[in-house]
Amino acid sequence: MSTDKNITSVLKETRQFPPQTEFVAQANVNAAERERLAEWAKSDPDGFWAEQGRSLHWFKPWDAVLDWTNVPHAKWFVGGTINASFNCLDRHLAARGNKAAIVWEGEPGDTRTLTYQQLHREVCKFANALKGLGVGKGDRVTIYMPMVPETAVAMLACARIGAMHSVVFGGFSADAVADRNNDAQSKLVITADGGWRRGKVVPLKANVDAALEKSPSVQKCVVLNRCNTAVEMKPGRDVWWHDLVADASADCPAEELDSEHPLFILYTSGSTGKPKGVLHTTGGYLLGTSLTHKWVFDIKEDDVYWCTADVGWITGHSYIVYGPLCNGATVVMYEGAPNQPREDRFWEIVAKYKVTILYTAPTAIRAFIKWGDQHPKAHDLSSLRLLGSVGEPINPEAWIWYHNVIGGGRCPIVDTWWQTETGAIMISPLPGAVATKPGSATKPLPGIQAEVVDKQGHPVPAGSGGFLVVKRPWPSMMRTIYGDDERYKATYWSNYPGVYFTADGARQDEDGYIWVMGRVDDVLNVSGHRLSTMEVESALVQHPKVAEAAVVGRPDDLKGEGIVCFVTLKQGTNPSDELKTELKAHVVHNIGALARPDDVRFSETLPKTRSGKIMRRFLRDIAAGRQTTGDATTLEDFAVLAKLREDDE
Ligand code: WT7
Repeated sequence: MSTDKNITSVLKETRQFPPQTEFVAQANVNAAERERLAEWAKSDPDGFWAEQGRSLHWFKPWDAVLDWTNVPHAKWFVGGTINASFNCLDRHLAARGNKAAIVWEGEPGDTRTLTYQQLHREVCKFANALKGLGVGKGDRVTIYMPMVPETAVAMLACARIGAMHSVVFGGFSADAVADRNNDAQSKLVITADGGWRRGKVVPLKANVDAALEKSPSVQKCVVLNRCNTAVEMKPGRDVWWHDLVADASADCPAEELDSEHPLFILYTSGSTGKPKGVLHTTGGYLLGTSLTHKWVFDIKEDDVYWCTADVGWITGHSYIVYGPLCNGATVVMYEGAPNQPREDRFWEIVAKYKVTILYTAPTAIRAFIKWGDQHPKAHDLSSLRLLGSVGEPINPEAWIWYHNVIGGGRCPIVDTWWQTETGAIMISPLPGAVATKPGSATKPLPGIQAEVVDKQGHPVPAGSGGFLVVKRPWPSMMRTIYGDDERYKATYWSNYPGVYFTADGARQDEDGYIWVMGRVDDVLNVSGHRLSTMEVESALVQHPKVAEAAVVGRPDDLKGEGIVCFVTLKQGTNPSDELKTELKAHVVHNIGALARPDDVRFSETLPKTRSGKIMRRFLRDIAAGRQTTGDATTLEDFAVLAKLREDDE
């Protein structure tokens, strides 16, 4: 497993960083307050969540905080009515109308700032335009966009009228867009001609054109002109964003929606080849994201907050759009690559906008380390006061570099553990309350009952590895897998009845700190992006020359995990380097660039158990270049080993 290196290093990691006095003095939550919240949540969870829930604007108050009678289907703030768009916009108009909501910079260097007033106006106009296209409450809308303010506008416009958005990351292929359109039965796709990435235009509209050939549910397509590139506009189907909003009214009252009204679907990879449409609803999700944004990022009125994720992932949903905007924060949004035009682009942005809070991923941090200290050192980073990390375990070396070189030794680091499914941060230090240890996400937030247990569900002793679970429902938890409730129950709730299974392995140290090691299922974490081995396998076997494929992760110093594919070819096909290149391109075409294999290896057979299950553990050893047993390191020995190890997985 890719995490072995981390396990060894974190086991040796003993450094501790207590919150610094100056930070504590101004913190939203200090140690005593954290203790009070945690105790309260334990002794009176309903009362605790009710009090937190009151931070949102409700049209009609709820009758009950939680209904957990139909396990594992929770209802939060039952009977209450609310609107996420109203909470993110309308509520701020009086006090923050002229405050910057989104400060945006495009990759070529163009910039735009939208105040809360302006964002509200754009959202209302676009919401009316959506209605004009026949989109209404409960309809699904696919959003396949670059990182531009209009992406947030589109999301908030859907939320305003009660349509569910399904944002598909712009790095996914046409086929992936089509699959998601079909699974959600989307009525509308919102896209752009393209988006800028490393000086080139990603042809989003062309991908949508290809996707729509296979997406019969989609009736209309809205196209934003971002890059001024020529695109085909299909009459009767495609319409320009600017034409749509030109005459749209800016008056669009937010729909009063049930607290449990679906807010969005977000597809993520699981153990099978088919991505899961994780469904989040309105009230609980909005509370989870805004509350954790306040607590973990210690957000203040004059902060300039920058989360570098793409809006196409849950981090972008929760910590670029819903959490921060619900809190009335100023959010920085950047369109492009961190090394365009040079490797100092992030630091230029931090200095230019005087960013105070930076939230990024370990894989990015490792790239910055590789690119050299001269890049951050060339810029004034003194505005920074807090740093965040998300997406994969952060190795202590990267943590220390982040702390010293980016944070100047003065900024706390919040290593935040959570998942698409959890909606919001679950395990993280509160920066003014919890001493950090490099590599540990520290402790569950108040109200979150995360524990490390063995196969039987018993807590494991300090230091031993186990499975990370969550024992009580929480407001921002996913509600189901869209269109596949059986899979929801089987994936998350069948290992331990009534307990949420995260599929992460972890251990807890003698101070109760949690060290997340990585996935225990067939999910890869490649540069912080989640990918299922079976997704890549099913792409490979769609190639006419491939008979069988097995895909595993291997440790990668930059990406966390790299993708290694073991492939058996159809009779009469000869292995060659050209074919390797062709297969890599085939996977990219099928899924997207994020799934590009690092290595393709041809083999006569694949090691399998008697029941036909591929022996991944063995393949992982081979991929990592590790010795397994004796000298059995070549694929030719697979058949023999398969027999010897048939009970092994
Ligand atoms: C998986 C969820 C939720 C934000 C982005 C990823 C891994 C996430 C951490 C962390 C160790 C982490 C887990 C998890 N992960 N954050 N701070 N430390 N591992 O969301 O795509 O749903 O992936 O990412 O393995 O299960 P996601």
